[in-house]
Amino acid sequence: MTDFARNSSVQKKASDKTKHITLETVQQLYKETRPKSLKIADLGCSSGPNTLSTIRDIIKAVKFAHHLEIPNQPLPEFSILLNDLPSNDFNSIFKSLPDFHTKLKRDTNYGDCPSVFIAANPGSFYGRLFPEKTIHFIYSSFSLHWLSKVNIYI
Ligand SMILES: C[S@@+](CC[C@H](N)C(=O)[O-])C[C@H]1O[C@@H](n2cnc3c(N)ncnc32)[C@H](O)[C@@H]1O
Repeated sequence: MTDFARNSSVQKKASDKTKHITLETVQQLYKETRPKSLKIADLGCSSGPNTLSTIRDIIKAVKFAHHLEIPNQPLPEFSILLNDLPSNDFNSIFKSLPDFHTKLKRDTNYGDCPSVFIAANPGSFYGRLFPEKTIHFIYSSFSLHWLSKVNIYI
């Protein structure tokens, strides 16, 4: 486990305070666009548990919106892209994926569980990270102030 994974509760508290905004926004986006495959990116995901915890909440929120709007259609699948700098310990997150998938199944009482595909997308968010028009929803928590380089504008 990385240091950040052990010491990320402050970041979790901050994220929990604003999470309703993220969840309402993704629900609105889903209602308006209803993609069959929803692509979501977390910029500055780090190596701790917070990223997968937020992803789980997003999936629950989209499922709720789906059941309200189009209950007779299949759930969308989710493609999740986890971004951080190349030096980030993505393996730490990957090791917790079996537990994450178990929790997802538990969230649905082992019924109606969507397909969720998780991949890393290493790189700096100061540059281009994704191909054109491929991501529906991008969020970032406690990262944009965590500057990995100083930008000086003269
Ligand atoms: C405080 S951690 C936040 C982690 C996570 N979002 C959370 O809420 O627990 C900030 C993360 O932003 C990443 N970061 C900083 N600058 C970055 C950049 N230019 N591109 C991508 N990630 C960056 C850092 O590597 C670090 O993992």
